[in-house]
Amino acid sequence: MKITILHDLIRWEEKALYEAAKKRGVEVSLLDVKDEAFDVTREYDGKFGDVALQRSTSYYRGLHTSAIVESLGIPVINGFTILSITGNKLFTTLYLRRNNVPTPRTLVAFSPEKALEAFRMLGGKAVIKPVVGSWGRMVALLDSYYSAKAVIEEREYMDPLYQVYYLQEFVNRPPRDIRAFVVGDRVIAAIYRNQPEGDFRTNTALGGKAENCPVTREIEDLALRAAKAIGDGVYGVDMMETENGVVVHEVNGTVEFKNSVSVTGVDIPGKIIEYAVNRVKR
Ligand SMILES: Nc1ncnc2c1ncn2[C@@H]1O[C@H](COP(=O)(O)OP(=O)(O)O)[C@@H](O)[C@H]1O
Ligand SMILES: [Mg+2]
Repeated sequence: MKITILHDLIRWEEKALYEAAKKRGVEVSLLDVKDEAFDVTREYDGKFGDVALQRSTSYYRGLHTSAIVESLGIPVINGFTILSITGNKLFTTLYLRRNNVPTPRTLVAFSPEKALEAFRMLGGKAVIKPVVGSWGRMVALLDSYYSAKAVIEEREYMDPLYQVYYLQEFVNRPPRDIRAFVVGDRVIAAIYRNQPEGDFRTNTALGGKAENCPVTREIEDLALRAAKAIGDGVYGVDMMETENGVVVHEVNGTVEFKNSVSVTGVDIPGKIIEYAVNRVKR
């Protein structure tokens, strides 16, 4: 049994996964996808082992290298199909919706005029997000007509990706959200992410403080339903508490868990390695 960790950066997570594999007597190697010229038309020479973990921080590197490795018949966690959905907030919303997973009301427009109309339809307070992106980057709260107009106008001068206007109702929630960790068919841990001073975004990358969150039946059920809507894999399911129950606003297909291990005490990397080993045995 050999696991390959595909990465473009070695963070705490990649080291922890490597150590967790070693500890279980599983052969493991780290492969920086930037150090490779992938000969995609040649026969497979065993280079990627029996199963690969996709850990690239870049969405495009991850998506493409998952496609390459998977095409050789090697399971990749997460694979191309999953990453193509989770890497895009609109596609994720569509999958959640189709599978009746509660998610905030979302409107999508392809011109500044219709984006402003969407903003009005959402009641004059909305969150605009790039469909591809993470760590809260460029996720902006539009809370007045003029700020909405300005943010939308600026996007006209950016890459076409930013002209896919994805606007979501602003969810009235406590100053925190919830991140649940799904590994296969289990929710292994959850954290609250407390909003930092001076921001509405709770991402730990922006200073959101992680705190253990008990996995209630509701959280477990929602996280598993969200994961099931997308496929068998490893996920970080982001949720918000509303007056009418919990809603899922994002499903992450490449998860960071450094802060979560320390506050939950759950061996997240160990569980991911065990899941990868089982995927090969199945
Ligand atoms: N509809 C919303 N209402 C209120 N807060 C939101 C909403 N959507 C996102 N947020 C806040 O912004 C953060 C980042 O948004 P998210 O959709 O998770 O994008 P990212 O991929 O950048 O993490 C969330 O963790 C949450 O704190
Ligand atoms: Mg998020």
